[in-house]
Amino acid sequence: MSATDPDRDRDRDRDPDPDPEPGSGLDPVENVVATIARSAAEIRQGLVGRRGKADEENPSGEVQAEADVWADELLADRLTSIDGVGQYASEERSEIIDGGDEQVYVAVDPLDGSSNLQSNNTMGTVFGIYEEPLPAPGTALVASGWILYGPITTMAYARDGSVTKYELTGGERTVVEEEITLPDDPLVYGFGGRVPHWHDEFRTYVREIESNPDHKLRYGGAMIGDVNQVLTYGGIFAYPALEDSPRGKLRLQFECNPIAYLIEAAGGRSSDGSQSILEVEPTDLHDRAPLHVGNAELIDRLEDALA
Ligand code: F6P
Ligand code: MG
Repeated sequence: MSATDPDRDRDRDRDPDPDPEPGSGLDPVENVVATIARSAAEIRQGLVGRRGKADEENPSGEVQAEADVWADELLADRLTSIDGVGQYASEERSEIIDGGDEQVYVAVDPLDGSSNLQSNNTMGTVFGIYEEPLPAPGTALVASGWILYGPITTMAYARDGSVTKYELTGGERTVVEEEITLPDDPLVYGFGGRVPHWHDEFRTYVREIESNPDHKLRYGGAMIGDVNQVLTYGGIFAYPALEDSPRGKLRLQFECNPIAYLIEAAGGRSSDGSQSILEVEPTDLHDRAPLHVGNAELIDRLEDALA
């Protein structure tokens, strides 16, 4: 069933899928996902009054918003109290919190794109659920997803090679579309980093993408908003290696791996420039990696261009 299927709304009304109550009876992965989904409405509401800067920097050297710190603490409390969670790690804190168990290890970007708070534009929450202690390669992911705080709150979730999109209303989770795949004909592109800092090979590739009359620019300053457009319309998003930042900007554990896992589950490809993001071996919890995700043919061409 596609997002434009006329039966979609009827099916949704007939077959609502209330979010399972976190707690006993759910495996740890589903328990983590249900907890994040249920927390989304509260996080969204909690942005009000927390749009200012905190007096701290995160481990990547970025000035934190009050909402970054608050959302991180909320998720840390809730996720570490779930049975089976061995670790909680976040882009917003230098140290891993030990959850006391040994089944799943959760990495979170609590508020991706939080610089958009000031202008009141889209942002999200990104999560990766690993079966190995962190830092771990993307091949150790068992599930990943993101919440998008757009005009409505949605969640994209990947597990076992299958991607599902939900709408989140209060504590309810409603399936919008199952078995999502990237549309065959790529439509949108968005590339981060200052253009003067792009490498020449990447710049040449971008010019080729731009010159195709079927392609449209979409860049919103929140990775999750831009990647969600790629999932919806097909295309490519990249935050590439830069001349002044060889590993780009985005964090492997919290951003690149979860995004790559979901886009690959949706039939797309991910790359650090030469291999799947999921193959990149981490050396540190807060490692960065150049991220390129989208339709397979566009990522194939990108790797040829950067070779
Ligand atoms: O998490 C980092 C992030 O906020 C991404 O969401 C976004 O894609 C990127 O930074 C924006 O960076 P820039 O301001 O360099 O375009
Ligand atoms: Mg982020």
